[in-house]
Amino acid sequence: MKPFRYSLVVGGILAALAVNANAVDNLAEFHAEELGCEACHVDNNQPIDDNLSVENSQCASCHGSLAEVAEETQRHHVNAHDSHLPGEPSCTTCHMGHEQSVTYCDSCHSFEFELPFGGKWQRDEPTIAELALEQQQRQQVLAGAPALSTDVVVIGSGGAGFSAAVAAFDAGAKVVLVEKEPVIGGNAKLAAGGMNAAESASQDALGIEDKVSIMVEDTMKGGYGKNDPALVDILANNSAGSVAWLTAMGADLKDVGRMGGASVNRSHRPTGGAGVGAHVVQVLYDNAVTRDIDMRLNTRAVEILKHADGSVRGLLVKGAHTGYYWIEAKAAILATGGFAKNNERVAHHDPKLKGFAATNHPGATGDGLDVAANAGASMTDLEYVQAHPTYSPLGGVMITEAVRGNGAILVNRDGNRFVNEITTRDVAAAAILKQKGGSAFLVFDDSVRKSLKKIEGYIALGIVSESQQLSEIAAELDIDAAQLAATVKRYNSLVEGGKDLDFARPNLPRALNQGAYYALEVTPAVHHTMGGVTIDNRAEVQNEQGQTIKGLYAAGEATGGVHGANRLGGNAISDIVTFGRLAGEQAAKYIK
Ligand code: FAD
Ligand code: FUM
Repeated sequence: MKPFRYSLVVGGILAALAVNANAVDNLAEFHAEELGCEACHVDNNQPIDDNLSVENSQCASCHGSLAEVAEETQRHHVNAHDSHLPGEPSCTTCHMGHEQSVTYCDSCHSFEFELPFGGKWQRDEPTIAELALEQQQRQQVLAGAPALSTDVVVIGSGGAGFSAAVAAFDAGAKVVLVEKEPVIGGNAKLAAGGMNAAESASQDALGIEDKVSIMVEDTMKGGYGKNDPALVDILANNSAGSVAWLTAMGADLKDVGRMGGASVNRSHRPTGGAGVGAHVVQVLYDNAVTRDIDMRLNTRAVEILKHADGSVRGLLVKGAHTGYYWIEAKAAILATGGFAKNNERVAHHDPKLKGFAATNHPGATGDGLDVAANAGASMTDLEYVQAHPTYSPLGGVMITEAVRGNGAILVNRDGNRFVNEITTRDVAAAAILKQKGGSAFLVFDDSVRKSLKKIEGYIALGIVSESQQLSEIAAELDIDAAQLAATVKRYNSLVEGGKDLDFARPNLPRALNQGAYYALEVTPAVHHTMGGVTIDNRAEVQNEQGQTIKGLYAAGEATGGVHGANRLGGNAISDIVTFGRLAGEQAAKYIK
C-alpha cells in the first residue's frame, strides 16, 4: 500500500491558518494541537538521541523522504530541498520543533523561502568558557557512569574528522564521531577548487609532470617559510597516497587544474570540475556508514577528560536535545576546523579583518581550540588568518580560484587587469582591496564556463551577468566598456603569444573569445585560519612544554604549522585527508 503523504503545500496552508487562528508560532505547537506530541516523539515525548532519529523518521513517514519533498517543491530558481549538502540532511536541520524554523543554507546564502514558522538566522552558541559555568550539571554527569564507551572519539565531521574516523576503524578501533552542527561536513563540504597532490595517478594520466619536492617548495614559499617543514614533508609525500586512498573508497579525482601559488596543475577534483569538498565528504560519509560508525550530530564537545597521569580518558559532550553526558574513550581526535566565521576571534588575531564577511560554514567558530587549550594544548601560528580574494557579496558565497585557474581574468572598474590572477591569495586579495570600491570583477567566457561544472552553481544563484556583448556586461556592472574590450583583446593576444608580459601570470589556459561573456563582482572575505593546535609528526597534540598529551590527536584546520603564514589553494583538503588518516591510524595504534 502506498503510504499516506502529507503534502507540504497543504501543510504550509494549514500551518498558516493555525498561526492566524491560534497564534501558535512553531511546528511543535502546530503538530501537538492537531496530532499530539506522539506525532513526533516517542518515549516520554522527549528526543531519544541528538540526531532526532525518531522525529526525522516521523517527518518522513508523513511528508516523504527528502528526495520526494524535493520533487514536490521544485521551483524555477532554487529548490530548498535539492541542496548540495552531503550526507543525509534531516528535516529538523531547518524545520525546528520547539523553536522557530530557519533555512540552514541562509547562513551563507540569502534565499527568500517561505518557511512555515520561519524565524531569523542567528547563532547564540555559548562559549566553552560560558559552558564551564554549568558546574553543577557537569559535575553530576561526570560523577556518574559514561553513557557509552569506545576506543577513539573523533570530534568534528569535516574531512579531517571523517578521514580519522574511517582510518581508525580500519586500523581496528571502535569509533564514535561527534558533530555540533545538525549537518555533517564542516567547511570541507564547501571546498570547491580541488585537492593538491604531487606525482598522483591522475596527473600521470594527464601527462602532468610534477614532483613532491616542488609541492614542498611551493607550499613553503606560499607560507613565507613559516611552515613546519616536517609537517609540509608529510603533506606532500602523502598527497598522492591520499588521493589514491579516497579513490579506492569511491572518489573521482581525475580532473586536475591549477590553483594560486602552484607551479604546475596539481589540484584534483571530480571529472568536469565539480566541487571537490561535497564529493569527498560524501565518499567518506558513505564509508563511515558502511562501517557502521556511531555518528552523533547536534553534539558539542565541551571538555577532554583526562586520567590523573594526564592521558585521555574520554570526552564530555553536550547534546542539543539530550544535554550533558560523557563518552569513555582511550583516545580523542580533535578535528574541529578553524574559526574564520567568528569575526571577534579573527579580529583579535588580525585586527585589519574586523567586520569582514567570511566564506565559512556557521560552525567555524573555533570553540574546538578552547576545548584543546583547556586540555593543555599549545597553539601555533594563530596570528595568521587568510582572506579569500573572490567572494561574491551579492551571493554570499566564495567563487573558487579554479575559475581563475581555468582562465578567468580580474578587472577593476576602469576595465583594467591589475594583478596576476593566480598569484597567492594574500597578494590577490590585497590587490583587489586597493581597487576603487575595494572590489573587482571576474570576467570569463563560455569556454571557461564549460571547463568547470562549479560555475553552473554560481549561474544558478543568479549572481553572474551574462551577455554575448562585453559592452552590455560592462554597462550592467558599471565597468568602463571601451577599456574592458581593450583589456580582453590585449589578454587574448598575450594568450596567443604564450606569455603574460603585463602581470607574469604563469598559466594562460585559454583566450576569452568563445560564445557568451560572463562577469561578477568579487571582494575578499575571511577564509582560512592557518593557526591552531600544535601537533608533531604523528598528529599528537603537544602541550606548552613541548610534551605529548597522551591519547590526544588533532588534524586539519584545527591545527597549526602545515601552512605557515599563508595557505595555498587546494592544500587544505590535502592536509585534512592526510593528517586525518594519520591521526586515525596513530590513535588506533596508541589504544592497542
Ligand atoms: P571542517 O571541515 O570545518 O570540520 C570541522 C567540524 O567540526 C565542523 O563540522 C564543525 O561544526 C565541527 N566542530 C567544531 N567545534 C566542535 C565541537 N566543539 N564539537 C563538535 N563538533 C565541532 N581547501 C582546499 O584545499 N581546496 C578547496 O577547494 C577549498 N575550497 C574551500 C571553499 C570554501 C567555501 C571554504 C570555506 C573552504 C575551502 N577550503 C578548500 C578549505 C577547506 O575546506 C577547509 O580548510 C577544510 O575543509 C577544513 O577541514 P576540517 O575537517 O579540518 O574542518
Ligand atoms: O578557491 C577555492 O576553490 C578555494 C580553495 C582553497 O581554499 O583551497
